[in-house]
Amino acid sequence: MSKKIKLGILGGGGDSLIGILHRIAANMFDKYEIVGGVFNPNFDDNMAFAKTLGLDSSRIYKDYQTLISEECKLDSSERMQAISVLTPNFLHYPMAKQLLENDFHVICEKPLTTTYEESLDLKRLKEEKNAVFGVTHTYTGYPMVRQMTKMISDGAIGNIQKVDAQYLQGWLNPVIHEKDKRSSTWRLDPEKSGSSCCLGDIGTHAFNMVELVTGMKVNKLLADLNTLYEDNPMDVDANVLIQFSNNAKGTIRSSQIATGEENNLRINVYGSKGALKWEQENPNYLYHLSDDNPLQVLKPGHSYNSNISLDGTKLPPGHPEGIFDAMGNIYKGVARAINGEPFDKAEFPPIEDGVRGMDFIEKALESNSKGNIWVELNK
Ligand SMILES: NC(=O)c1ccc[n+]([C@@H]2O[C@H](COP(=O)([O-])OP(=O)(O)OC[C@H]3O[C@@H](n4cnc5c(N)ncnc54)[C@H](O)[C@@H]3O)[C@@H](O)[C@H]2O)c1
Repeated sequence: MSKKIKLGILGGGGDSLIGILHRIAANMFDKYEIVGGVFNPNFDDNMAFAKTLGLDSSRIYKDYQTLISEECKLDSSERMQAISVLTPNFLHYPMAKQLLENDFHVICEKPLTTTYEESLDLKRLKEEKNAVFGVTHTYTGYPMVRQMTKMISDGAIGNIQKVDAQYLQGWLNPVIHEKDKRSSTWRLDPEKSGSSCCLGDIGTHAFNMVELVTGMKVNKLLADLNTLYEDNPMDVDANVLIQFSNNAKGTIRSSQIATGEENNLRINVYGSKGALKWEQENPNYLYHLSDDNPLQVLKPGHSYNSNISLDGTKLPPGHPEGIFDAMGNIYKGVARAINGEPFDKAEFPPIEDGVRGMDFIEKALESNSKGNIWVELNK
């Protein structure tokens, strides 16, 4: 009998952006077997897509409620153990809540929910059920992000004094200027996206990266958001000043109207002894700067990297790995947790990261709406 984790998927149909990333990641280390799901809200589309994946139609369901009730009737050896939630944002909470209530492990896309309260409710349920819950902040799975995190925690750059994170995209530029074009994306619809577009979609990634690599919590923030047009209710650009409890300060700049930008996520961390810089579009290079020595460029797969970084590399140095591998590493970490194997807490973003992301969004919106004031995040 297969010892693979039986995985179901909600969302991520053939029409989706992110579905293929999760399917390849789930298959990468032979830890999961995708057995079924609800890939689209339309049942015919759902079935047709499942057929292209070669899945058994008996486990393709019309909606997530049916998936849960039918799967719960199966013997525990057959039943889906984990479910990936890859739908538009507004469905994350109701889906994840019912999944947890029915004893499934959950892998959920970001932003975790549409409100901070909902995210706390999921955290409470996850703890009550002792479930494994991973939030797919994909970029945390890159070997050189893991290396950056480890080097900073080992003191390689001394005390952190400045952090500069940016996540710049330009894909909304062709959409934002004409009102009727805006409905072409659910991301600009508050009913589906939640209260934020830019912060929720990409600002949360940058915020998560900042707290992960520095190992520090953002204490307070001051945000200035831009909707570009008065009749657009959603932020499409956000400049956020951040302050940590030790007086280190920084910025998180995110935008979906940075014309021509693709997926320009970068994080620079400056400390008293040096600095580390990483960028998503060239993910296999980590730059180490200092006052006295020439610039050092670290790359994946070399023995000078930490164990957690090396665990995220499958091939000898010089074989570029990318976004699929980063997500694969997250799925691998979640699989270890589900199987009760030892795992490093840096292997996948836990539900707490999703909760922090929701607090970040709500506090940034509050700061902006109150005239760009400093607002404290929850402890
Ligand atoms: N981790 C990342 O880097 C990353 C990147 C992109 C998107 N995302 C997140 O992934 C999620 C999906 O984003 P996307 O860009 O793939 O969206 P998308 O619009 O491209 O795809 C959404 C998919 O969900 C399906 N869907 C909608 N309602 C459904 C329902 N009721 N039941 C089942 N399926 C349903 C759609 O048919 C579609 O296949 C969002 O929460 C987004 O924030 C994360």
